Amino acid sequence: MKIDLKFKYQALLTKIRNEAPFQPEVAIVLGSGLGNFASSVNIIKSFNTSALPGYPPSTIKGHEGKIHFSEYDGKKLLLFQGRIHFYEGYNISECILPSFIARQLKCKYLLLTNAAGGVNPNFVPGDLMLNRSIDSFNIKKELTNLIGLADETGKNNFNNFPSAFLNGLIKKAALEEKIELKEGVYWFNKGPAYETPAEIRMMGKFGADAVGMSTVHEAIFAAYLGIKTSSITCVTNFAAGITGQKLSHEEVTVTAKLVEDKFERLVKRTILLID
Ligand code: HPA
Repeated sequence: MKIDLKFKYQALLTKIRNEAPFQPEVAIVLGSGLGNFASSVNIIKSFNTSALPGYPPSTIKGHEGKIHFSEYDGKKLLLFQGRIHFYEGYNISECILPSFIARQLKCKYLLLTNAAGGVNPNFVPGDLMLNRSIDSFNIKKELTNLIGLADETGKNNFNNFPSAFLNGLIKKAALEEKIELKEGVYWFNKGPAYETPAEIRMMGKFGADAVGMSTVHEAIFAAYLGIKTSSITCVTNFAAGITGQKLSHEEVTVTAKLVEDKFERLVKRTILLID
């Protein structure tokens, strides 16, 4: 059964369209601890998501619940400061809202960012990882309800992510900024609990390089809608069992803060390279 998002979010879309100062080109979802990027660009208009009818309230520390129309080097940006997670009790039609809004406002590009645990033993906290691929086993059913299995031509709806074009720009941006950029597979855990060491060992064997609780549904849905979509992971901690150290949300936000400068340069250079 397909969900009618335009109907569900009619009032929200009307408000945001009526009050939008411009049509944005690039949408960026700022993950855990990465929200400060918003203060490094020129903000033209901000919405508190609590003022948008039907927008799910953010329940997590470090997720602001703001949408900014902003500019950087003449590029029109739509920034989501804070996102919506399954582990907060929300469902698929809520968790994909940033992608849906980006599409309704006609953004051409979507850059998703997230914090994740490093599963690949060669990764250390503070590494940035471009997502080469993502796992969606845990939410196949929910996604299928939203996008179906295939489009009219029989093309698999799950396979449009990532954008080779945008990934290419991100790699070029990293080279130009002399930032070491790892590449790998982002594995999804619906949460809310972190993984057990056994789960991490299994994910590693299945090819995961990092594990987190967001992004996958936003990415697959946006790519299905035709937005060129990529995602960047900030490895904020060793995944469970890799070092024996306990995992905490605090460690996630502290590491994200340490990479703020590197992350900001990478994203800004990527924006510059979009023409
Ligand atoms: N596991 C899941 N999600 C996360 C982690 C992790 O280790 N770190 C940051 N988000």
